[in-house]
Amino acid sequence: MHFDTEVVHGGQHPDKLHGAISPPIYQTSTYAFKDADQGARLFKKEEEGYIYTRLSNPTIDLLAQKVARLESAEAGIIFSSGLAAIFNTIVTLVKSGEEVVSDNTIYGGTFALLKNILPRLGIGVKLINANDANALNSAVNEKTRLLFIETPANPTLKIVDIAACADFAHKNNIPLCVDNTFATPYLQRPIELGADIVVHSATKYLGGHGDIIGGIVVGKKDFIEKLWDDAKEIGACNTPMNAWLILRGIKTLAVRMDKHCSNAMKIAEFLSTHNKIEKVYYPGLKSHPGYELARRQMSQFGGMVGFDLKGGKEAGKVVMNAVKLCILAVSLGDVDTLIEHPASMTHSTYSDEELKKCGINPGYVRLSVGIENPEDLIEDLNQALSKV
Ligand SMILES: Cc1ncc(COP(=O)(O)O)c(C=O)c1O
Repeated sequence: MHFDTEVVHGGQHPDKLHGAISPPIYQTSTYAFKDADQGARLFKKEEEGYIYTRLSNPTIDLLAQKVARLESAEAGIIFSSGLAAIFNTIVTLVKSGEEVVSDNTIYGGTFALLKNILPRLGIGVKLINANDANALNSAVNEKTRLLFIETPANPTLKIVDIAACADFAHKNNIPLCVDNTFATPYLQRPIELGADIVVHSATKYLGGHGDIIGGIVVGKKDFIEKLWDDAKEIGACNTPMNAWLILRGIKTLAVRMDKHCSNAMKIAEFLSTHNKIEKVYYPGLKSHPGYELARRQMSQFGGMVGFDLKGGKEAGKVVMNAVKLCILAVSLGDVDTLIEHPASMTHSTYSDEELKKCGINPGYVRLSVGIENPEDLIEDLNQALSKV
């Protein structure tokens, strides 16, 4: 099946009991056992079945299988949020005294998890530029248990070479985990490029409508089994209703992404010619340093665009306060266009020095381009820019 058919039909069949084409929402915390012996067998894993929704639930499982399929992975687990997915992945793979190596341009919440929380658990963290082979070589040692990257990276849309990182990680006997939130499996499939684990904030494009929080991890079956063993005790599970909303969102992933991408390209081109703009960040522009790499590892360039204004941070504030159609809010991947200021919002966990190191300028503005008519979006940005 083609991907746009797969998102609609893949792994989903009409409900056996009544033929409902929309999957049932198993809104239950617990499941009745046939008898005491069956309950004991389920706990011992001698029999397959449901025990308690923190452990597993048919609606949530359907979503995990669906995303695993879309990502060319063997299995998956759903979490309460993208950060819960990342945290659980790390603590399953890395213990006290061991280390994680990560690219330094990542979502601000992930950055805070790596910088502030993991060291408290005795886990060492090295933040480097993962496109720099020398930096990778000097960061990885016998204590390293995971290489983590995000591409396109939040917020600068830096493109990291997935195949090169996978190759490097495997030569060093460590797994590569890729945060594929910005691209989604429609535009990029890290496992096909050699990655071992893929994580998502399903809150973003997979859900697509800004109405849920969710996280997903997919990978090889044996890793997902280990992850599940830990995750069920950590307890960051999601809910059947949220899983159903994400499943519904995924049905339109391909058509939404096509529109996000074409709108983003039009907006990036408009901003590139505007006299108040200093620099536009969009991997689909030939001027973007990751353009060639993005062409190789992605099928389109995504729905996120960034820009610096000639008037710096103050000018950025004027634009963010003047937009009428775009919404001043964090998060991304919604049908609505969202605008935000990474240095003071999503990436306020970075120090000024850390922001500078990653090329996140103090006035940098990030746009999550929605699926509205691009002319209306351009008109809104144009009137907001005229206020500068
Ligand atoms: C790339 C990326 N990964 C992970 C996360 C965290 O996801 P969540 O907010 O669902 O915990 C975000 C949130 O913005 C993100 O942008």
